[in-house]
Amino acid sequence: MERIGSELRRGALAAAPRSDAAPVSLGAAGDDVPAGRAPAKRAPAKRAPAPAKRAPRASKSTSARSVPGGAPSSAARSPSRTSRKPRGNGGAKDRLGLPGTGVLVTGAASGIGRETALALAEVGRPVALWDLDAAGVEETATLCRRRVAAHGSVVDVTDSAAVSAAVPEAAAALGSLGGFVHAAGVSGAMSVDFIDDALWDATLNVNVRAAAMIAKNLIEPFRAAGPGSAAVLISSIEGLFGSAMLTAYCASKGGVLGVMRSLAHRYSMEGFRVNAVCPGAVVTPMLSPAFELPGFREQLEERTPLHRIATPDEIARPIRFLLSDEASFITGTTLTIDGGLTSITAL
Ligand SMILES: NC(=O)c1ccc[n+]([C@@H]2O[C@H](COP(=O)([O-])OP(=O)(O)OC[C@H]3O[C@@H](n4cnc5c(N)ncnc54)[C@H](O)[C@@H]3O)[C@@H](O)[C@H]2O)c1
Repeated sequence: MERIGSELRRGALAAAPRSDAAPVSLGAAGDDVPAGRAPAKRAPAKRAPAPAKRAPRASKSTSARSVPGGAPSSAARSPSRTSRKPRGNGGAKDRLGLPGTGVLVTGAASGIGRETALALAEVGRPVALWDLDAAGVEETATLCRRRVAAHGSVVDVTDSAAVSAAVPEAAAALGSLGGFVHAAGVSGAMSVDFIDDALWDATLNVNVRAAAMIAKNLIEPFRAAGPGSAAVLISSIEGLFGSAMLTAYCASKGGVLGVMRSLAHRYSMEGFRVNAVCPGAVVTPMLSPAFELPGFREQLEERTPLHRIATPDEIARPIRFLLSDEASFITGTTLTIDGGLTSITAL
């Protein structure tokens, strides 16, 4: 472990966040989307009562660049009541795709963000995808467009002005925005001995400040999208426990939980829900430098009751559940997804 520690102290895991990216629309498409869902056969399941008052629908941004390949399908563009009725047999599988409104996923070029976008597309939810990585986000969008409308954009989530412009653009491109997953993140790995202001700010700005700033911009589109709007913020088991080499990361992930609880209270006044997930180790590019350290993966697997590391889809599927009508009475809570790692003592 000491060897691993010294590797980490040398900054082996430090991410180099970028801040030079301007929001660039990569377009959306959805006309080629198969309908994919059978018409409703049963009465809609009971829903939580909607808030008494709804603000008028948000006006659609004119700043969204027109979509190569055509506008999203009418099903994707319309967040109408019809689109939120249970499809097929009205069972649990179908409720995972409800409400049928669009979902904004940050960090969508890679790892958990990409898998979440794909999981949402699988159940018919249109997706707006943000990342700094233009090629990666477009690749995710292309994969999602096999099933739904997908709007990919290069957006630096730490750029609050860019976020304010990109939210209405995403809502306009999809026709509705009633979901949000904050998966953009950086590890900022460094012990307190070596951390500096720049690394601290970069880590907290991406992981936690952006979550709050995006959530602020989503109130209006969520109102317009109607009942069932929900958000999921990705924290970490490092937000629950400490780790010497992850000072800023631990602070940011604890902060995410604080933001989530505050948002859950505020959003509940509108009838929206907010929850957080705390993954343990997941096989994504963020962890690949650590996996190169001799013994790191083996030790982690040995300590984890399920004796393995999670795949990104094992985090994406619980996120999809928390966003859906299946989780209609769950808000302000944290779901730990760590193969049991934090459920046992180290003794
Ligand atoms: N991988 C794990 O073991 C693990 C464990 C617990 C929590 N998490 C959290 O899950 C989330 C997703 O991480 P991942 O493992 O999929 O990592 P990843 O590196 O595969 O994906 C993170 C994505 O965020 C993007 N990003 C970074 N800064 C950005 C910015 N300023 N604006 C827009 N996009 C930005 C990156 O380009 C990247 O595509 C993160 O919040 C991470 O902290 C990961």
